[in-house]
Parts: sequence; structure tokens; C-alpha cells
Amino acid sequence: MTIKVENLKVNFKTLEEFTQFKEYGLQELSMLEELEYSLVEDAAASPFYGIYFGDKLVARMCLYVKDGHLDGAIQAYDKHLEIWKLEVLPQYQFKGYGRMLVDYAKHFNLPIVTRPRVKSQDFWVKMGFQSLSEDSSRLVWIPDSISTKKIS
Ligand code: COA
Repeated sequence: MTIKVENLKVNFKTLEEFTQFKEYGLQELSMLEELEYSLVEDAAASPFYGIYFGDKLVARMCLYVKDGHLDGAIQAYDKHLEIWKLEVLPQYQFKGYGRMLVDYAKHFNLPIVTRPRVKSQDFWVKMGFQSLSEDSSRLVWIPDSISTKKIS
């Protein structure tokens, strides 16, 4: 079985699958609204990416591209990514799916910002994320090219 990260399409099947996940909020509601009012084509690309195990969605994240500078080293970039709602279903945790989703985001080679949930801080540190600033609860990952530039 091939396990890969894929873009989740905007359709009622995806929304049904999302009910298995703990975090349900504005993004999902706006997808529902768009579908109900036919504001979007069925199966259009969504900001969600996920991993299927067989035909079951077992992990997902919401990935946004944001324009504009952030503080510090990230000023070298005029855009960055934001990860929201990274979640792996309980029976599928600690099998590498969380890392696969974060690696997928990293391959765009842009800084990535996230706001970790309370118990996931250590996971993010393992993924190479660090505090954005002393007074921020947000974490950031910066691509290697910039770290190298900073050292030299
Ligand atoms: N605390 C410390 N380390 C953790 C961890 C945690 N909560 N979850 C995973 N890790 C470690 C793993 O042991 C593994 O380490 P290794 O490479 O040394 O073996 C590494 O991080 C990668 O783990 P992985 O199997 O890819 O993690 P996962 O698929 O279980 O996903 C979460 C991690 C946090 C996304 C998942 O547990 C989850 O959905 N938790 C509930 C929701 C949540 O907290 N989401 C965070 C959104 S901000």
C-alpha cells in the first residue's frame, strides 16, 4: 500500500471524514458553506492535506501560504507557510504520519509557522521548530539555506 500526502478535495466525503478529527472549526464550516451554496466546484483543491491508510483518512493538516514578512531571519522571505490543525487519529499516532505531513510542508523551502497544542510541543521541537520570539507561543521552522546564511 502506498502511503503518501495528498491534497484533500472540497467535497462532502472529505467533510464527513473530518468528523473523525477533534478539531473542527471555521475552515471546515466555510468548506461546508461553499459546498452548500455551490460557491465552489465539487472536488476543488482545499487548503487541507492528508494521508489515507487504505480508504481511511488517518492524518491531516491545513496549510496556508501567507504573504508578508515575519520577524528576524524570516525577513529574507516575502512569504511563509502556516500549519494549522495537524492531527493524526489516535490509533495511527507514533507511526510517522505527523512527520510525513510536516516534511511535505518543508519541501516548499519556505519558513513554516505554527501554534502548537499544549501536549505537542516536544513533537514540534523534534521536527526542528523553535520559538518565533520570547513572547510568542508560535513556533517557526526556517529552511537550511537561511540558517547557513546566518552562520557565515
Ligand atoms: N511528544 C513528544 N514526541 C512526540 C509526540 C509527542 N506528543 N508525538 C510524536 N512524537 C515523536 C515521535 O516519537 C517521533 O520521534 P522519533 O522520530 O524519535 O521516533 C517523532 O515525534 C515523529 O512522530 P510521528 O509518528 O510522525 O508523530 P504522529 O504521527 O503521532 O503525529 C501529532 C504527532 C502530535 C501530530 C499527533 O500525535 C497528534 O495528532 N496529536 C493530537 C493532536 C495534536 O496535538 N496536534 C498538534 C497540532 S498543533
